[in-house]
Amino acid sequence: MPVAKISPSMLSSDFANLAFEAKRMVKNGADWLHLDVMDGHFVPNLTWGPPIISAIRPHTEAYFDCHMMVSNPSQWVDDIAKAGGQMYTFHIEATKEPLALIKQIHAAGMQAGVAVKPNTPVEDVIGEIAEQCDMILIMTVEPGFGGQRFMAECMPKVERLRRMYPGLDIEVDGGLSMETIDASADAGANVIVAGTGIFKAEKPDEVISTFKDKVNK
Ligand code: DX5
Ligand code: ZN
Repeated sequence: MPVAKISPSMLSSDFANLAFEAKRMVKNGADWLHLDVMDGHFVPNLTWGPPIISAIRPHTEAYFDCHMMVSNPSQWVDDIAKAGGQMYTFHIEATKEPLALIKQIHAAGMQAGVAVKPNTPVEDVIGEIAEQCDMILIMTVEPGFGGQRFMAECMPKVERLRRMYPGLDIEVDGGLSMETIDASADAGANVIVAGTGIFKAEKPDEVISTFKDKVNK
């Protein structure tokens, strides 16, 4: 399985100090930064878009892992690329043309991720999509909000994907903590997103290094 990447979700950061929070996470050992873009339509919440991502960009060299919870994912590809996004993860539920979208993302110079909501079967991404994309995100909460309970019932999807695609980056997002990391790592996830679990921890560095050790063991 590919090496661990820990991607703290900026959704749990202090929004008045985004540059500081990004640098704080990198100092604590983060490999990536997870940026949740929500449009108030695909999910019932709003966050930020390209202008904010572009404002954080000069303050860190961290890899920008953009989770696009938007209804029209092809609309934002160029803007996110220009803003400095590096992984563009769209929801499989939001497009009828996933393969064309993956091509568009690659043409814009980014890696392409495909996200799967808890009630969406993993079969929807098995095959050509999994072969063309760079990462699959198995959501472990309903997308839209931080601080929700981890859904262990999504782990069979991770296990199935890992068996089929040993070299693929598989990300989990939602409710990841010291209590739920074992289930995720054992199932075969190697990209770990955590908002509350890292930002609200007394020692984020210890949480990040524990997550890494559990994935890489
Ligand atoms: C939820 C977002 C997550 C969120 C996770 O829709 O995709 O990235 O920040 O937050 P926690 O880790 O608190 O569940
Ligand atoms: Zn996310």
